[in-house]
Amino acid sequence: VDEHSQDLVARLVARGVIPTGVSVTMTPLPGGVSADVSVISVASERLVVKRALPRLRVAQEWHSSPTRVLREADAMIFARSVRPDNVPEIVDIDEEGLTIVMRAAPDSMENWKSRLLAGVIDPGVGGLLGDALAAWHSQSNADPDSLRRFADPSHFFDLRISPFFLRVAEVHPDLEPTITDVVGRMTARSLCLVHGDFSPKNVLVGQGPPWVLDWETAHRGDPTFDLAFLVSHLVCKAVHRPGDTDRYRRCAEVFMETYFGSSSLDIDPADLVRQVGCLVLARVDGKSPVDYFGPAEQATARAHGRRVLTEGKVDVAAVWPRS
Ligand SMILES: Nc1ncnc2c1ncn2[C@@H]1O[C@H](COP(=O)(O)OP(=O)(O)O)[C@@H](O)[C@H]1O
Ligand SMILES: [Mg+2]
Repeated sequence: VDEHSQDLVARLVARGVIPTGVSVTMTPLPGGVSADVSVISVASERLVVKRALPRLRVAQEWHSSPTRVLREADAMIFARSVRPDNVPEIVDIDEEGLTIVMRAAPDSMENWKSRLLAGVIDPGVGGLLGDALAAWHSQSNADPDSLRRFADPSHFFDLRISPFFLRVAEVHPDLEPTITDVVGRMTARSLCLVHGDFSPKNVLVGQGPPWVLDWETAHRGDPTFDLAFLVSHLVCKAVHRPGDTDRYRRCAEVFMETYFGSSSLDIDPADLVRQVGCLVLARVDGKSPVDYFGPAEQATARAHGRRVLTEGKVDVAAVWPRS
C-alpha cells in the first residue's frame, strides 16, 4: 500500500468509518477521470471512497473546483431519498479531506457501458432509468429546498457547457449561433435537479434495479440535458456498432417513453434533438472525446452531429444515424 492510501485509511479510521486493527484492502477502480476512486474491503463490507482531484485526467484537461465531491454526496442523499434502490448509500462526508465514502455495489453488478459495447443491449434498463430519472426531475422540481441547494451552476458551466458546447462552437464556427441558442435555451430552463453526467458509464446493472453513480455535475437546470446526454451516448454506440443501431435505438425509445409517461416536466423535442446533436459533436471535437471511436467513426459522428444540429428536426427519430 502506498503512502497516499495509508493516509486515506488512517483518516477513515480516525473518522470512525472503518474500525481499528482490522485488515483492509484497497483497490483502485478504473475509469475515474475527476477523482481517485477505490474500493476498500473491511471484513465482509465493501466501501467505495472517492477523493476529488483538481484536474481531470483527459487529454485536453480543464479545471473545476474539487469541492464538487461534496455536492455529489449532497445530490446522492437527495436522490436516494427519492429512489433508494437506484443510488448507493453515502456513509461518510469528509469536508476538509474532500473525500466521500459510499457503499459498494455487489460484485455481480457490471458497468452498463461495458455491457452495451459488448452488444448486451437490454431496453428494460432504459425503462428503469427513465422511471428513476422522471422521479428525480419531478420531485426536485416540486421541492424548493432542493432547488436552492443545487442552484449554483458554475461547475456545470466548467464541466459541461464550456468543454462540450463552447468548445464545439470554437471548432465549428459556422455552428456558433445555433450552439449559442441551444445553450441559452438550456440555461434559461432551470427547473429541477439535473444529474449532468447521465451516461452508461455511470450506471451499474445487475439482477436488481440499476444504480446511478457519479453525481458531481448535479445542478439545478434543464431536465432536457439528462435525456439528451444518455441518448447521445446511445447514438455514439450506434455509430460504433452500426449493426446494433436498432437495438440501441429501442433502448433509448423505451427510456424516453418511460420518462415521458411519468415525468411532470415538459421537454421540447426540438431542444432535445439539438442538444443531442451538440453532444454527439462534442464527443468528437469537445474536450472529452469518445474512447472507442476510430478515425472513420469520428468522421461519421462529426457529419451526423452536424446534420442533427442543423437540420432543425422536431422529432427525436432524427437523432439516429441511418444504418
Ligand atoms: N458505489 C460503487 N460501487 C461499485 N462501483 C462503483 C461505485 N462508485 C463508483 N464505482 C465505479 O467506479 C467508477 C468511477 O466512479 P465515478 O463515481 O463514476 O467517478 P468519476 O467521477 O471519476 O467518473 C464508476 O464508473 C464505477 O464503475
Ligand atoms: Mg464516472
